[in-house]
Amino acid sequence: MAKAFVIGQPIQHSRSPLIHGHWLRKHGLDGSYEGIEVAPQDLARFLKSFAANGYAGGNVTIPHKEAAFAVVDRRTSRAERLRAVNTVWVEDGVLWGDNTDVEGFMANLDQSLGEGWDAVEGGALVIGGGGAARGVVAGLQERGIRPIRVANRTAAKAADLVRDLDPTGQDLEAVAWEDLNEAARQAGLIVNTTSLGMAGQPPLDIALTDAKPGAIVADIVYVPLKTPLLATAEARGLRIVDGLGMLLHQAVPGFRRWFGVEPRVTPELRALIVADLERPK
Ligand SMILES: NC(=O)c1ccc[n+]([C@@H]2O[C@H](COP(=O)([O-])OP(=O)(O)OC[C@H]3O[C@@H](n4cnc5c(N)ncnc54)[C@H](OP(=O)(O)O)[C@@H]3O)[C@@H](O)[C@H]2O)c1
Repeated sequence: MAKAFVIGQPIQHSRSPLIHGHWLRKHGLDGSYEGIEVAPQDLARFLKSFAANGYAGGNVTIPHKEAAFAVVDRRTSRAERLRAVNTVWVEDGVLWGDNTDVEGFMANLDQSLGEGWDAVEGGALVIGGGGAARGVVAGLQERGIRPIRVANRTAAKAADLVRDLDPTGQDLEAVAWEDLNEAARQAGLIVNTTSLGMAGQPPLDIALTDAKPGAIVADIVYVPLKTPLLATAEARGLRIVDGLGMLLHQAVPGFRRWFGVEPRVTPELRALIVADLERPK
């Protein structure tokens, strides 16, 4: 029986066990996927010993993604670029780390918008400069979307992101937080990667009044599913993409690796997670 895990602290809110549990049932596999609370001081020991304890691998979530990057023996090129690891496994005795957020974000846009969406006129505006912003920018950059502008409240973090992901200075440009609305007017794709708009947080203060007709507005926040940003964009007739699909799609590569089956992101899986998000806690 193959066993996998998600580790983090706290871990009880993670939806990953629900996602992988659904796929295990769907494919009739004799496997398990469990959430395990791991404190920062125990991370290295856990990662170095999970194979001996019978696990094929697992996911790594907040606050361990950067620390796991430092612990693994080898990383995929995406993990190298993002300096963060969210998926681990052991191959020929070597502890590997990957970052599947890029694939999750891009696969969600592909599935939600269909072929051809990436011919965006005016380039992209990515709002935020945290860990998730790096995955989003890397995905758009790999797809050839140009220019990509990055606006973050803390300007230094946007500047660091641009320098790290675009050392030659050709694809990315940091824009001032004060110029957010102007940058939004020019962009064919606008992505919120900040925590603004999440339940309990203030909304992102952005006017989409002069957005390009047909612009795409994506949010990676998924609680609530329709953030104030997406509601505004929808009211203006723009195309919208919510954040839940990214969460579902980022789980695909890990499941394939640990359990040997390619799982699918289906309306049934989405409905299962939506029901959980909407359940009173
Ligand atoms: N859908 C998915 O699968 C998925 C995956 C990953 C993350 N997420 C979501 O994405 C969000 C960001 O995650 P992360 O890992 O990137 O977090 P992070 O590294 O902590 O970054 C947080 C970002 O939000 C900005 N921010 C926070 N409060 C703000 C405020 N009051 N005004 C302006 N900006 C503010 C921060 O700006 P400063 O730099 O100025 O502080 C930073 O850019 C979270 O809501 C997370 O749940 C979703």
